[in-house]
Order: sequence, then C-alpha cells, then structure tokens
Amino acid sequence: MSRVLIIVGSSRLAGNTSHSVTELSKGYDPEVIHLGEHNIGYFDYSYKNQGDDFLRLSQKMLLANKIVFATPVYWYAMSAELKTFFDRLSDLLDIRKEEGRKLKDKDVYLIANGKTDIELPEGFEVPFKRTADYFDMNYQGKCFLKFSELDKIDYTHSDDINAFREKVFT
Ligand SMILES: Cc1cc2nc3c(=O)[nH]c(=O)nc-3n(C[C@H](O)[C@H](O)[C@H](O)COP(=O)(O)O)c2cc1C
Repeated sequence: MSRVLIIVGSSRLAGNTSHSVTELSKGYDPEVIHLGEHNIGYFDYSYKNQGDDFLRLSQKMLLANKIVFATPVYWYAMSAELKTFFDRLSDLLDIRKEEGRKLKDKDVYLIANGKTDIELPEGFEVPFKRTADYFDMNYQGKCFLKFSELDKIDYTHSDDINAFREKVFT
C-alpha cells in the first residue's frame, strides 16, 4: 500500500482545492496537510526561519512514497502558499542535504483546479516536473479540475478523476 501525502496550498481552507482533494481521495485515507494551517516562512538566505513548520512538514514528505501537491490556479500559476513551500525546498539542498537526498525516487503528482480557464495554462506543470527532476523524484502527472461559477466541478472540462485516483492510490 502506498503512503500518500497530499500538500494543499490554497488561500482558503475549505475551498475548491480542498473539495478537489476530497473528491480525488474518495475511498482512501491519505495524510493531508493544509499549508494554511502551518507557519511556513519565505526562503531566507541566512536560514533565519528554521523555527517554523517547514522542517517538520518536509520530514512528513520523507515518510511518504507518493507526494501530491494540490493548488488552485491563481493568475496562471501555482498559489503563493505552495510556491512559498517550494522555495523552502532549497533548504533541503543547503543546510538539510541529508533530507533532500531522501526525496529520491518518490513519485510526485499534481492536483490543480481553476475556474476561468478550461485547461491548465501552458507551462503550469513545469515547476512541478522540473523540481521533481532536480530532487531525482518522478513526476507522474496531473489532474485538472475545472470549477463552475457556482463552485461545482464541471466534469466535461475536467480530467478523469477515477483514473487519477487509481494511479495515485493503487
Ligand atoms: C487570486 C486569484 C487568481 C485566479 N486566477 C485564475 C486563473 O488564472 N485561471 C483560472 O482558471 N482561475 C483563476 N482563479 C479562480 C480559481 O482558480 C478557482 O476559483 C479555484 O477553484 C479556487 O480554488 P480555492 O477555493 O482553493 O482558492 C483565480 C482566483 C483567485 C482568487
């Protein structure tokens, strides 16, 4: 059985990204971290924020074998919450190299959702794929969910949820 960790970065805790994660995890019980419930500082060249929650959350990544990042599309890119977390991955290359090396071979997935665009903007997956490559992890693809004006999933413009769920959880 895969140990799946889902890291959610959204500006609201019970919004469409959380809804997407619930929908995509139906029947399974992954560990879900909402970055909004944790204190993650911006990357700092002097590593002054070592007392925040980043190290503890990165250690959870080491215990998982599949890591799923979940984000809304905000202005054609990942959320600021998730980008802040991504920037802090640099700590794992500098002062926490041991942890950084242990990310090797983990599978990485992306759950993204938007409302105005009917598909992911071009280049959206690049930071996920390239960051995974940098840490010798394997990017295994995305599931894009399109939400309607009423915040309901528009299945006609969304990727296949069942296929993605199967890929992540089995
Ligand atoms: C600041 C901001 C920027 C947004 N930019 C986009 C965008 O570029 N493309 C898009 O399709 N939707 C965009 N949206 C809509 C959100 O992606 C969409 O409503 C999403 O489902 C919100 O997820 P959340 O409830 O987790 O924040 C934006 C919303 C906000 C608040």
